[in-house]
Amino acid sequence: MQQFVQALADKRAEAELGGGQKRIDAQHAKGKLTARERIEVLVDPGSFEEWDMFVEHRCADFGMDAQRVTGDGVVTGYGTVNGRVVFLFSQDFTVFGGSLSEANAEKICKILDHAVKAGVPVIGINDSGGARIQEGVASLAGYAEVFQRNVLASGVVPQISLIMGPCAGGAVYSPAMTDFIFMVKDSSYMFVTGPEVVKTVTHEEVTHEELGGAATHSTKSGVADRAFDNDIEALMMTRRLIDYLPSNNRKRPPHRPTPDSPDREEPSLDVLVPDSPTKPYDMRELILKMVDDADFFEIQPEYAQNILTGFGRMDGHAVGIVANQPLVLAGCLDIRSSIKAARFVRFCDCFNIPLITLVDVPGFMPGTSQEYGGIIKHGAKLLYAYAEATVPKVTVITRKAYGGAYDVMASKHLRGDVNFAWPSAEIAVMGPKGAVEIIFRKERDNAERIAELTEEYRQRFANPFVAGRRGYVDDIIFPRFTRKRICRSLAMLRDKKLENPWRKHGNIPL
Ligand code: COA
Repeated sequence: MQQFVQALADKRAEAELGGGQKRIDAQHAKGKLTARERIEVLVDPGSFEEWDMFVEHRCADFGMDAQRVTGDGVVTGYGTVNGRVVFLFSQDFTVFGGSLSEANAEKICKILDHAVKAGVPVIGINDSGGARIQEGVASLAGYAEVFQRNVLASGVVPQISLIMGPCAGGAVYSPAMTDFIFMVKDSSYMFVTGPEVVKTVTHEEVTHEELGGAATHSTKSGVADRAFDNDIEALMMTRRLIDYLPSNNRKRPPHRPTPDSPDREEPSLDVLVPDSPTKPYDMRELILKMVDDADFFEIQPEYAQNILTGFGRMDGHAVGIVANQPLVLAGCLDIRSSIKAARFVRFCDCFNIPLITLVDVPGFMPGTSQEYGGIIKHGAKLLYAYAEATVPKVTVITRKAYGGAYDVMASKHLRGDVNFAWPSAEIAVMGPKGAVEIIFRKERDNAERIAELTEEYRQRFANPFVAGRRGYVDDIIFPRFTRKRICRSLAMLRDKKLENPWRKHGNIPL
């Protein structure tokens, strides 16, 4: 018996060494952890259960029959994050560049299938040279098998992708199908075609980093949700993110008790909104003063900064927060911010995470670039996302809620459950000056008269009481009590039941 046990120990040790010490050293020299080290940081100590450690590729072409590595370049299995099970795969760049073979794809598919069956999240750690070139179409088939499973798991269990090395060509589409993508600065990149092909086709000269690095995707393309300085930070932040999410679409996020009282008052909020309607203020300040322990986990913090999206907790319960940011482009809605917020709203709705919407929006961004870019269709995404969402929806209008943007931002008319306004709210078709210049066009040159009419319009419409009289806002609240009022609303809504009519799926404007 002893020799069998020893043989197993030897085989396991061999698998754990992946592509060998030299390649492990090369991985470290690039500032990257190995596939197994990443798993150690990600899951609770000692909780990892590895599967398919002994899988090998079945390719005999190009001398591959002489090169078999136990495990075949991807480590798969499950572990726990703060006690909750997650499935994961971690591509091992030391083995054939982490490239995806048929056998390696089967390992990933197995854990995706089990994650759906068990109803637990999947985390994919990507560090790969792409399709295993020696295997040809078998490898491409493997990708498609993974994509199909990503799609079927979408909205059923949370899926998170970490990009910690190369991720190019077809490989990008598995992460693209998942809910969140985190990248590591300077050591990861994602693109459909690399710099060499770009140069041949479009004659552009661009580096890997410029084309598809973490900075590019977290600021320009919006492909990545966050960019971190190193592997460890990205993995620790993934643990934090998982904590806000339920294990699957039938569960609620975990409750995390807090000493922060739901009744906490914030007198400083009474003076957050400046007297001048054109003066900006930082909406992030309201979020930090509203949520438990000033803890806000932002999604896409560096992309479309005119809208803020992210997770927080209210009285220990996870919430998704969407907020116009008056500091950037006056908080208006444009193509990028509409898409960013729409995707976030849909994620929260998939996974039973109530939505808090903080509104200060002067309208949609005007201009040819927006119209030619399809703001009609993209703005409609956000409207659609809010309108179809059945999770509890609480909205607070802090200042401007103008025009169509008022409707879009989780208004009462899109089944907002509780809609509050601060006394500084201006709920109107447009700002008083613009309105008067249109209605009283003939008086345009009479500055005194225009000023008079503007003030009259402001008194008449640019306040929360018109909406309050119609019940479009449920209450006009003192800003200092915002946290308390939202916590109570969410407690009241905890068992909310609302279903949309049966359909195969809706047809969101894409
Ligand atoms: N299939 C098979 N083996 C691959 C591979 C792939 N797609 N990508 C990398 N490898 C192997 C390399 O042959 C090398 O093997 P070796 O250590 O035995 O020499 C090892 O993985 C490491 O690759 P290397 O090129 O030395 O690493 P790098 O950090 O310098 O470059 C890449 C990384 C990803 C840029 C580079 O490997 C590459 O261009 N790979 C091919 C990408 C591609 O075209 N994929 C197919 C289409 S999706």
